[in-house]
Parts: sequence; structure tokens; C-alpha cells
Amino acid sequence: MRISQRAKRVPRSGIREMFDMAPKYKNVISLGIGEPGFPTPKHIVEAGANALYEGHTKYTPNAGISDLRKAIAERASLDGLSVDQQNVIITAGAGEAVLLALLATVDPGDEALLPDPCWPNYFGQVALSGARMNFVRTYERDHFHLKAEAIEKTISDRTRVVIINSPSNPTGAVLNKQELEDIAKVILDRDLVVISDETYSNILFDGRRHTCIASLPDMADHTIVINSFSKTYAMTGWRVGYAIGPSDAISQMAKLQESVSSCVNAAAQQACLAALKGPQDCVKEMVEGYRERRDLLLSGLAELPGIECLMPEGSFYAFPNITKFGLSSKDFALMLLEKTQVVVVPGSAFGEGGEGYLRVSFCGSIESIKEVLSRLQNLLR
Ligand SMILES: Cc1ncc(COP(=O)(O)O)c(C=O)c1O
Repeated sequence: MRISQRAKRVPRSGIREMFDMAPKYKNVISLGIGEPGFPTPKHIVEAGANALYEGHTKYTPNAGISDLRKAIAERASLDGLSVDQQNVIITAGAGEAVLLALLATVDPGDEALLPDPCWPNYFGQVALSGARMNFVRTYERDHFHLKAEAIEKTISDRTRVVIINSPSNPTGAVLNKQELEDIAKVILDRDLVVISDETYSNILFDGRRHTCIASLPDMADHTIVINSFSKTYAMTGWRVGYAIGPSDAISQMAKLQESVSSCVNAAAQQACLAALKGPQDCVKEMVEGYRERRDLLLSGLAELPGIECLMPEGSFYAFPNITKFGLSSKDFALMLLEKTQVVVVPGSAFGEGGEGYLRVSFCGSIESIKEVLSRLQNLLR
């Protein structure tokens, strides 16, 4: 069959590539993907199951059920946003929300700026939108924080959209309020749109607080906020995320949703409503669990010769520097898989700026992190 150029232009995810290679080996341990090791909290599962029995088995409106859109708008007020359900669309995960946001705001030939390194799915999403990609490098010396000056230098006449992601996958960087204010100034000066992927906004360490860029003065009209139930509530397989933005952009996204999937699974939306309305201790407990795992991983990595790693500020990824070994990150990751049956993701999967690093997820079990550290110690010592 003749395959379209569009499909060919979309790159395969380097994260999935490693994941797909793993089954060839025995006794494999993966710290490769961002899959929470915790189950979805029981009251949320029960709400989802009950929803099916109660008949939530039919189409919902394109933008999602009204109760969930309202609950998300209410929750957003905690981040300083003043929005109602017209500003909210429910999507099949944050991933679809980013795609719909791009489809609603860029035309073929426009340019989207991405942080480098970044979540590789943005590459495919921008490619599908027809926009051109350009990158804003972030550096280890800045703890991988995205700098407003670097965005300003990269902007061209064709730039329409800047994607930001804090807390970051893969670097764990969390932008502070001042940094976001500096970025907001550039966005407003150049009349751009920010797609702010805040999928990990609840997973913050060491007393950090999340700032939503849309809450900064005049930014609500320039921002589409992306978030998800996947990581906060350990609900990756339920496939529910959302976007918050100006009502004209959201209604366009809802129209586009009809062409993609019509709507998100009705019972899953009810489960997410229970997630937002129910007790939030489960989130606190999981974040504390990730903190414990982070500290365990980082203290273990610190003992390994040749590896240096910044302390992740949020999300659940560590991004150790492996340049001292003189191997590309892909060769290093393949070597680890072959010699220790440990799966991690080469930093190059996240862009050129990721070369020389590995992404190690610490959202799995404590035992898996201990076992990986012991295998790495045997190999590297
Ligand atoms: C930065 C970032 N955004 C979005 C997503 C996708 O989340 P969802 O499962 O809601 O599509 C991920 C998943 O790993 C991610 O790391």
C-alpha cells in the first residue's frame, strides 16, 4: 500500500523502541517507561466499574461530560485560574490534548518551539499538525531549566506556539514563578501561544509549588494548559487527560475531537470525576512514594563510578550524565540491556540535547530500583 508522507514523517518513539527490544532478553527489569508502580486507587476503580453498571456506556458530548469539565474548572481555581466548563475539554490523555491544541492553533508552515530535551511524542504531534519544529536547548549547568532568553533568541517570524513542560519529562526540572514570568513576557511581547504541558504538576519534591503559566497576568488568553489523570492518579490505562484554555480554542478542539474519537470513554470520565471529588490522600501518598524512590535511586547512582546525576525537582525521572564513558547514550543503553538486562531510555530519544544522558524512571517498585542498582554496581565497579 502507498503510505503517506505525513505518516512517514512521524518518528517512532525512542522510548517505545527500547521497550519493544526488552522481550528478547530474560530476567529484564525496566526503568524505561513512565508507568506508575501504584495501582489506580480503589475508590476510583469502583466508581469506574459502577459507572458501567449504571449505564454510562454511551457517547458523551465531544468536550466531555459537564460534571467532569466543571470539576476540572473548579480544581484549576487552586492554580489561580478563573475558568468554567467552556474552557475545558476532556481528551484521551494529555497526549491527545497536545495534538488537538496544536491542530487548533498552528497551520502548516508555522513553527512550534520545543524544549530540547523533551517528551518525544511532541515530535510526532508537531509533525501531524504540519508545523515545523525548532528547538530551545536547555543545559545541565542550568539544571535543565528553560530560559526565556533562549526562547527569545530562537523565535522567528513563523513561530506561533511554544510548548513548555514543567515538571519536565525527561529532566525532572521544575520552572519557578520568576522563570515562568520571564517566559510569559516573551510570549506576550511576541503575541504567541503557549501549550503548557503540566502532566506532572502534582509530582513535586522538596516543598516546591506548581505555578501555572496561565495564571500569570494576561496569560490566560495566550495559554492552553494540558494536564492528565494518568500520573497524578496512576490512571495511565484509563486514557483521560484534559486541556484548559480560551473558550474559542477549546470549542475548536471539541469540534476536532469529533473527527478523532468523538469523545473519551464515558465510564472512564465518571472514574475521573470520582478521582477529583474523592479523598486526595492517595495522591500525597504516591508522591511521597516517588520521593522515597527518587532518594534511593539518586543515592545509589552517586555511588557508581562515572555517573553524575542532578536531583530531580519533580516528575519521576532521573537524567544521569554518562558522558565519561565515551559511548553514545543509545550504545550505553543497549550495552546495559545486553549486559545487565536493565531497560533505560537513551537521552538522545528526547532530542539532541539529551545526548550524553539516560532517562531512568523511578515510578516503579522499590525492589526494581534496588535490583537495578545492584546490577549496575556489579557492571560498573
Ligand atoms: C510530558 C508528558 N506529557 C504527556 C504525557 C502523556 O500522558 P497521557 O497518559 O495523559 O497521555 C506524558 C506521558 O509520559 C508525558 O511525559
